[in-house]
Amino acid sequence: MIDYVISAEGLEADELEGFFVGWPRRPSAEQHLELLRGSSHVVLARTGGRVVGFVTAISDGVISAYIPLLEVLPEFQGRGIGTELMRRLLREVGHLYMVDLSCDEASVPSYERLGLQRLDAAMGRRNRAALGPNVTCLGSDPRTGPDGANACKLASCRCGPGHVPETGPDGTPLGVWALGHVSCLAPAMRLLDLSRL
Ligand SMILES: CC(C)(COP(=O)(O)OP(=O)(O)OC[C@H]1O[C@@H](n2cnc3c(N)ncnc32)[C@H](O)[C@@H]1OP(=O)(O)O)[C@@H](O)C(=O)NCCC(=O)NCCS
Repeated sequence: MIDYVISAEGLEADELEGFFVGWPRRPSAEQHLELLRGSSHVVLARTGGRVVGFVTAISDGVISAYIPLLEVLPEFQGRGIGTELMRRLLREVGHLYMVDLSCDEASVPSYERLGLQRLDAAMGRRNRAALGPNVTCLGSDPRTGPDGANACKLASCRCGPGHVPETGPDGTPLGVWALGHVSCLAPAMRLLDLSRL
């Protein structure tokens, strides 16, 4: 059974494992907890002592809200959880004049069924460095960058403790640098849709 709650109060980071699937730099569970606490509205789907889905909104509390993040863990997808999270969130912000989000084309029908409609072009900017030093490391023979920095702290890193992922000539973490260069991670990085992040 899935429980839905509209607060992150009492939530611990260890209940937030497994999210941000496919991101080249996955926010840590601690960062995830922080962003939930920093959002004006959250809805969490919980079962078995862990969170399996979440959605956030950031609102000025007067006329507008933006919905930046919605995710359901892969093994829980396709059961209506994403729809229910959105339904409950929209109820929370339903009194506001404008509620906006940006999404990929495949998600448009789902959002239309929830009462959203296409607006004008969405604009945005992605500063990947803002996600911090964590680098998604999927390689088996990574090399250290010129500055030796950017030690991989991700639980998902398969290279073991102390691994230092490759950095670009300017010290930029691989998640960005690998896009234009051959590296041990290049095949894995190509599988990710980096344009979305
Ligand atoms: C999109 C997502 C939240 C849907 O969660 P879910 O619990 O599987 O959603 P539901 O079971 O309520 O299904 C809702 C609809 O979303 C569709 N959907 C499921 N996975 C999807 C995906 N990866 N991309 C787009 N749509 C998806 C379903 O087909 C369903 O549409 P339908 O009613 O026409 O069949 C989930 O797939 C996810 O976390 N994806 C990765 C993160 C993401 O894309 N977030 C949304 C950014 S806009």
